[in-house]
Amino acid sequence: MKKTCDPPSNGRPEKDAPLFGKFSRRSFLTQLGAAGLAATAAPIANAAGVAEAPPRAETSQEVPGAVAVTLRVNGKDHQLMLEPRVTLLDALRENLQMFGTKKGCDHGQCGACTVLLNGRRVNACLCLAVMLEGDDITTIEGLGAENALHPLQAAFIAHDGFQCGYCTSGQICSAVGMLAEAGAGWPSLVTDDVATSPPLTDREIAERMSGNLCRCACYPHIVDAVEAAARS
Ligand code: FES
Ligand code: FES
Repeated sequence: MKKTCDPPSNGRPEKDAPLFGKFSRRSFLTQLGAAGLAATAAPIANAAGVAEAPPRAETSQEVPGAVAVTLRVNGKDHQLMLEPRVTLLDALRENLQMFGTKKGCDHGQCGACTVLLNGRRVNACLCLAVMLEGDDITTIEGLGAENALHPLQAAFIAHDGFQCGYCTSGQICSAVGMLAEAGAGWPSLVTDDVATSPPLTDREIAERMSGNLCRCACYPHIVDAVEAAARS
C-alpha cells in the first residue's frame, strides 16, 4: 500500500484536489493570502508615507464612466470628459483650472461658488456639470478684464467691499444676477408692494444678497458697492 504524509481524508477533499476549476485548495489559499497581504500592505505603506500620492489634478479621462460634455464658459467651448457626479464648481476648478470661483461649504449654503447660468445666478456646487451642455456659464473671469473692470468689480474696490476676498467673486457674480432680477421687477422678501418695481434700498440689497455670506463681515461695504454700481 502506498504511504502518504497526508492524513486520511475522512471524506473531505484532498489538499491538492481541484476545488474551483484549475485551482487546487492549496493554490487557492496561497493566492488568497497573497491578495490579503497586498490589500493590508497598501494602507500601511500609505500611512507610513511610503506609497506615492496620486497626482493632485487627476484628469477625469481616467475615471470609469466619464462622459463627454461640452461646457461653454465665458463664451468659449470646452470639451471635457466628466464623471456624471462632477459638479460645475469642481469642473471649473479641477478640470478648467479656473480658480476664481471659490469653494466654501460645497453644500449650497455660503454662495462663494456663485456663477451666472444663462444670466441667472446659481450655486455652482449644486449644479451637475453634465446637465449644462448648451448653457452659457459666466464666471468672475468672464465679467471684466484687468484693464477694463466690470462696474461691480470697480465698485467693490472703491467701497472696500472685501477683506480676505474669498467670498468676493461669488458676491460680485451674485450682484450681477441680482441687479438683473431687480431690473426685471422681481420682488424680494422685504418688498412691500410686489405690484411695483421697488427702489434698491439698503434693505432690499441686503435681503437680495443674503445668500452670499462674508466671514469678514464686510456687509455694509458690500451694500454700498452694489448700490453705487446700481446707480451707475
Ligand atoms: S460652496 Fe457653493 S454655496 Fe458654498
Ligand atoms: S471678504 Fe473675507 S469672506 Fe468676505
